[in-house]
Amino acid sequence: MTTRSAVTGAFSYTGKYITRLLLEQGQHVITLTSRKNDQNLFNGQVQAYPFQFDNPKALAETLHGVDTLYNTYWVRFDHHQTTFGSAVENTRTLIRAAKNAGVRRFVHVSITNPTPDSNLPYFSGKAQLEGDLKASGLSYAILRPTVIFGDEDILINNIAYLLRRFPLFAIPGKGDYQLQPIFAEDMAQLAVDAGQRKENLTWDAVGPEIYTFSELVQLTRSVVGSRAGLINLPPSLVLTLSRMIGFFVEDVVLTEEEILGLMANLLISAEVPTGHTSLRDWLHANANQVGRRYASELKRHYNA
Ligand SMILES: NC(=O)c1ccc[n+]([C@@H]2O[C@H](COP(=O)([O-])OP(=O)(O)OC[C@H]3O[C@@H](n4cnc5c(N)ncnc54)[C@H](OP(=O)(O)O)[C@@H]3O)[C@@H](O)[C@H]2O)c1
Repeated sequence: MTTRSAVTGAFSYTGKYITRLLLEQGQHVITLTSRKNDQNLFNGQVQAYPFQFDNPKALAETLHGVDTLYNTYWVRFDHHQTTFGSAVENTRTLIRAAKNAGVRRFVHVSITNPTPDSNLPYFSGKAQLEGDLKASGLSYAILRPTVIFGDEDILINNIAYLLRRFPLFAIPGKGDYQLQPIFAEDMAQLAVDAGQRKENLTWDAVGPEIYTFSELVQLTRSVVGSRAGLINLPPSLVLTLSRMIGFFVEDVVLTEEEILGLMANLLISAEVPTGHTSLRDWLHANANQVGRRYASELKRHYNA
């Protein structure tokens, strides 16, 4: 019998890569999403259902017959009614619905180094949900990625965008804090591998290279042929500048919490790398495209 999987966000970023792999394996895939059914993607093979967090019974009905649920759902920052608090509650609803529907396995995308007492709600919310999932009785796999790079990435793409367009690029603080980016295809492969196992597990999802933030910006600058000067500024000033740029690109470019998360060295792992694709190689292979266009979070998720 064909395995039936559900992916949250199959038409968005990470979920799209996971879906592609599942379809290649001959699985039947449905998606939970706020988007309309996108018939152009995956040749219409993926049926879309609304999240229905406000109707847990209907959500459980949608998940009926699903073997593995791949959950990428989360928000990047608080915006209007959408908050980290609501994302935590929604994910709890999803976990309960999966349990009630008899889903065999729940693959959950978290973040590197989450802690329940973190002062950063992105990290504390993820830690709380890891605890909820472990207590749910579901068979689980928790994946903890750092920055995920790929065609639809926002962070590295927008660093390249700013380097292409402005004579100066502002680095918060010393720029000596580190990141260990993972390629979206590696992340998806890890998720699918984790989905097919039986034992409960928690894996960091990190690539083979560690960069300081300054090294990452320098690498991107050289790859896109930018001559922008790099300037180290206090984080508060970088935030003010990013808000000014945000006014022109009509987006939230960077949040205070993201700056604090970066500077707290939370986006690296002490474990053996689980991804193998080099960001350096990928950037060189994509030098002509990366950062040509600004990638807007508000456009992607708020139809701004
Ligand atoms: N991207 C990274 O560099 C990165 C780094 C570390 C961890 N992660 C984690 O990896 C997972 C996937 O991240 P991603 O960047 O690939 O996300 P994404 O594809 O842009 O979105 C993932 C899912 O969350 C939903 N979503 C996102 N923002 C939303 C909002 N403001 N309101 C309502 N729904 C929203 C999307 O809804 P639709 O289906 O309607 O689009 C989609 O189902 C997340 O759990 C994230 O925390 C990502």
